[in-house]
Amino acid sequence: MDKFAFLQEQLRELESCGLLRRLLCVESAQGPVVRFEGDPGEKVLFCSNNYLNLAEDKRVAAAVTAAVKRYGYGGAASRLISGTMKPHLDVESTFSEFFGTESALLFPSGWTANEAVLKTIPQKGDIVLLDRFDHASIIDAARAGGAEFRTYRPDNLDRLEKFLAIKKYKRRFIVTESVFSMDGNAADLARLAGLKRAYNAVLIVDEAHALGCLGETGAGLAQEVGLLGEIDIIVAPLGKAVAATGAIVAGPRTVIDYLINKARAFIYTTAPAPVTCAAISAALKIIKTEPQRRERLKANAEYIRTGLGKLGADTGKSTTHIIPVIIGPSKDTLRISKDLYDRGFFIAAIRPPTVPEGSARLRISVQSDHTKEQLDGLVEAIEEITKGTSAILRCR
Ligand SMILES: Cc1ncc(COP(=O)(O)O)c(C=O)c1O
Repeated sequence: MDKFAFLQEQLRELESCGLLRRLLCVESAQGPVVRFEGDPGEKVLFCSNNYLNLAEDKRVAAAVTAAVKRYGYGGAASRLISGTMKPHLDVESTFSEFFGTESALLFPSGWTANEAVLKTIPQKGDIVLLDRFDHASIIDAARAGGAEFRTYRPDNLDRLEKFLAIKKYKRRFIVTESVFSMDGNAADLARLAGLKRAYNAVLIVDEAHALGCLGETGAGLAQEVGLLGEIDIIVAPLGKAVAATGAIVAGPRTVIDYLINKARAFIYTTAPAPVTCAAISAALKIIKTEPQRRERLKANAEYIRTGLGKLGADTGKSTTHIIPVIIGPSKDTLRISKDLYDRGFFIAAIRPPTVPEGSARLRISVQSDHTKEQLDGLVEAIEEITKGTSAILRCR
C-alpha cells in the first residue's frame, strides 16, 4: 500500500479544480525574454519581479565575480557564530543610511525577515493588525506569534481603527505591504501613519514590490509619499527589483539588537553567501543613480494599463508596475495563460489560495526594459485570445 496515496488523492483533486501547480524550467538568464527547457522558441516574460532588469545586469555580475574571488562562495556558519563577514555589514550599513534608520539587519529571505519580525517583536498581550491582502509570509508569521491578530480590509480602515481603540492590548502593531503583490495597488500610508500616531501603534511596512521602483532614490512607497520617517520598521525583500535574494529589516537599533538576540529565523540559519551581498550592493548603487529605470518602468506600466483598459480588461485597483488581469475561474485563467504561451508570452496563472476564490488572474508585471513592441504584442495577443468571450474579460 502506497504510504502517500492520501497525498496523491489530494493532488488529483487540485488538478480537477485547475489548481495543480507545476515547476517550469527557464534555461536562459532572466530578462524581458527567456527560454524554457524543451522549447526552442523565446517567450516575452511578463510575470517576473525583475522590474528594473538588474538580474541580468553586467555590472552586478562583475561585482559578484570580484566577490567570489575575494570571499569564496559560502557563508559557512550562522551570523552569530563565524558567519558575519564584511559584505554583510556593508549591506546593512548601506541600507540603514538609504532608509534613514538607526540600524538594519540582513536576512536570507523576505519570508524569514517577516517571520523574524512578526514572531519576535509583538508579544503576548499585544495585537497585530494585518491588511487582509498582506503576503502569506506576514499572515503566517503573525499567526505563529504570541500576539493576537486581526485582519482589516484596505477599503475599511474604520475596522482597523476599531481594533486600535480597544484598551486591553498592551501594544498595537499595524502591518501592511506598501505595493500589494497581486493587485498592484498602493497602501494608504498617510492614513495608516495618522492612525499609528493617534494610537501610539508600531507601523511595519513591507516594501517588497516598491523597493527600487518608487521614490526619488528608489527607497519605496514611503519615500514616494514623503513618509519614510513615519515607518517604524521597514521590511525590504531583495529578490524583486534588487534581483538578488535576502531581505533587510531596518529600524531602531533596539529592534535590530532584539532580533539578533531573539529571532530564531535569524539565529538558527546560515549567513547569506557574501557574493549575494555583493550583488545587492551593486544593484542598490544602480537603483540610486539610474532613476531613468524607474521612469521607464512607470511609463511601460501606464502604457499597458491603458491598452488593457481599451480592451475592457479588469485590471482591478492597479496603479503600479503590477497589473492584474482578473479573469475569475482558475481553469479559464490557465487556458488563457497557455494560449499566451503559444503566442510567445509567458504569464503564469495566479490562482487561489494566492488570490481570493473566484479571482484567478494573469498577474502582469512589466520591466523597465520591455519594449513598446512587446507591450503592444501582449495586448494584441490578449485581445485575439479573448475575442468573442466577453465573460472572460470583465470590468467590475
Ligand atoms: C510582499 C512580500 N513580502 C515577502 C515576500 C517574501 O520574500 P522572499 O521571496 O525573499 O522570501 C514576498 C515574495 O513574494 C512578497 O511579495
